[in-house]
Amino acid sequence: MSRVLLINGSPRAHGCTAAALEEMIGVFRAEGVETDLIQVGNKDIRGCISCGKCSAAGKCVFDDPVNEIAQKFEKADGLVIGSPVYYGSPNGTLLSFLDRLFYSTPWSKHFKVGAAVVSCRRGGNTASFDALNKYFTISSMPVASSTYWNQVHGFTAEDVKKDLEGLQTMRNLARNMAFMMRAIADAKEKYGLPELEGSAFTSFPDGK
Ligand SMILES: Cc1cc2nc3c(=O)[nH]c(=O)nc-3n(C[C@H](O)[C@H](O)[C@H](O)COP(=O)(O)O)c2cc1C
Repeated sequence: MSRVLLINGSPRAHGCTAAALEEMIGVFRAEGVETDLIQVGNKDIRGCISCGKCSAAGKCVFDDPVNEIAQKFEKADGLVIGSPVYYGSPNGTLLSFLDRLFYSTPWSKHFKVGAAVVSCRRGGNTASFDALNKYFTISSMPVASSTYWNQVHGFTAEDVKKDLEGLQTMRNLARNMAFMMRAIADAKEKYGLPELEGSAFTSFPDGK
């Protein structure tokens, strides 16, 4: 059985982002995918301090929900990140969470499927969507897509319930993601994962 971890970056447990993620969860359940929904936007999560201690410890120096949720992420076949749009970006708490989650975890995210979902009232959604997808694409995580933009619109969950196209996009996203997780699991058994090189680490044009 595939397992998907859904992260809600909103501080509102029953807000717009939650409505979008619940729509996905309905499909995941119908498809036999195990789900785990965690809200981070209402938690006290500070940003990364670039201390580098995670490289030896294999976890963040701040023992808070980041380390706890990292264990769930390690076991998951897919990760959905949902965020409300705040001033044209993902929510600040979510970004602090994601920076530390991705930076501090040494284990491979190779071929875990990622999907980003954003909720805004009026604008800033595509910039927020871009920011979230970058966590996946620099971690060898294939990105699931849908039939249109992975976004819903509204100020309350009731508004989102009226965004029929947005909800349809969420359902199709979940279906595509469920298929990808199953297909990748089959392919892993048949072919194994592709080998990755990882020794080069250049920061300046002269390689020093
Ligand atoms: C601090 C703050 C900044 C916001 N900035 C934007 C924005 O730039 N564009 C927008 O359309 N909505 C903005 N909103 C509204 C929310 O993005 C929108 O209502 C969203 O759907 C709420 O999702 P939630 O209920 O899951 O928190 C902002 C809300 C807050 C609290």
